[in-house]
Amino acid sequence: MLSPKSGILSIKPYVGGESQLADVDRVIRLAANESALGPSPLAMAACKDIAPLLHRYPDGGSDELRKGLADTFGVDAAKIVCGAGSDELISLLVKAYAGEGDELLYSQHGFLMYKISAMACGATPVAAPESNLRTDCQAMLDHVTDKTKLVFLANPNNPTGSYISQKELEDFHSRLPNDVILVIDAAYAEYATASDYEPGIELVNKADNVVMLRTFSKVFGLAAMRLGWAYSSPEITDILNRVRGPFNVSAVSQAVGIAALKDKEHLDKTISLNSRLLPEFVDFVNSIGLKTEPSQGNFVIIDFSEPTEKADAFLRSKGILARGVAAYGLPNHLRVGIGDEEEMEIVKAAFKEFVS
Ligand SMILES: Cc1ncc(COP(=O)(O)O)c(C=O)c1O
Repeated sequence: MLSPKSGILSIKPYVGGESQLADVDRVIRLAANESALGPSPLAMAACKDIAPLLHRYPDGGSDELRKGLADTFGVDAAKIVCGAGSDELISLLVKAYAGEGDELLYSQHGFLMYKISAMACGATPVAAPESNLRTDCQAMLDHVTDKTKLVFLANPNNPTGSYISQKELEDFHSRLPNDVILVIDAAYAEYATASDYEPGIELVNKADNVVMLRTFSKVFGLAAMRLGWAYSSPEITDILNRVRGPFNVSAVSQAVGIAALKDKEHLDKTISLNSRLLPEFVDFVNSIGLKTEPSQGNFVIIDFSEPTEKADAFLRSKGILARGVAAYGLPNHLRVGIGDEEEMEIVKAAFKEFVS
């Protein structure tokens, strides 16, 4: 049997958040940072409407979707590349810019796909230490070498929920060499409430070595569609368009994404629910003696001060799926997504019972 390229067999495959539990009627799925409210009714209708056209190839340039994104976010459509989830865009960036002998830098508890994508291309993943579960920009800069090609920064970060401010981000970028590409992965941007947060649009508009990644999987409730987008300079946009598949975004995903962008009311509802339930849940968790970290996402990590097997098993016995984050170097934490009001009441009751 032919062996794959070197390094591939060292990859530990990404394990997604679980969705099912045996012998449980109602499963509360809080393991994958999905939307509490699900997709917009407009998006669901668009999914149905496109069915008679499933024999047609999609628009290879995702033109209407890019126009919708440009109008919604006030950006230039010509500098957008759509992808099958931001996961695809992460791997395309690594494929285009890094290979054997190159380094990809990310923050210690950063999103796992950065490391996996680096290894898949034969590049070396380098993790810079964090301080207090937060990206340490100085430590990141200290780990830049002449082999560094890409720096990935999830902002807000998954799984910690921490963020860095626009000023920190711009200062960090100004100290990076010009021939290193900074990728700002803003998958949770819409949920961020900090007044000094900016998703990266302004930096992309100023610099040609910056990429901002966004997704429809989180606040738009469209994880099943696999739809994300990259916003970057004309030079990087051109490269992404060369390496992506000609029809990398399905017609269904494009139609659904276009419709979702039009439903501002659903978006606002989803954001305001999270802005209310997340701090409420954090206060509750702290009130029962467990420690949380401040979060700018739609999830929070909880410190159990011991490996989480017992807590996880207890939650599962109540039909609640949270996410163990040992693979991120956090064996004592569970990440809990923010569900809807009713789900969070059940989760709070389970936590109360567990600590007592
Ligand atoms: C920080 C971060 N980036 C990217 C992704 C991948 O998103 P997508 O579903 O668009 O591939 C996730 C998903 O959990 C994430 O947390």
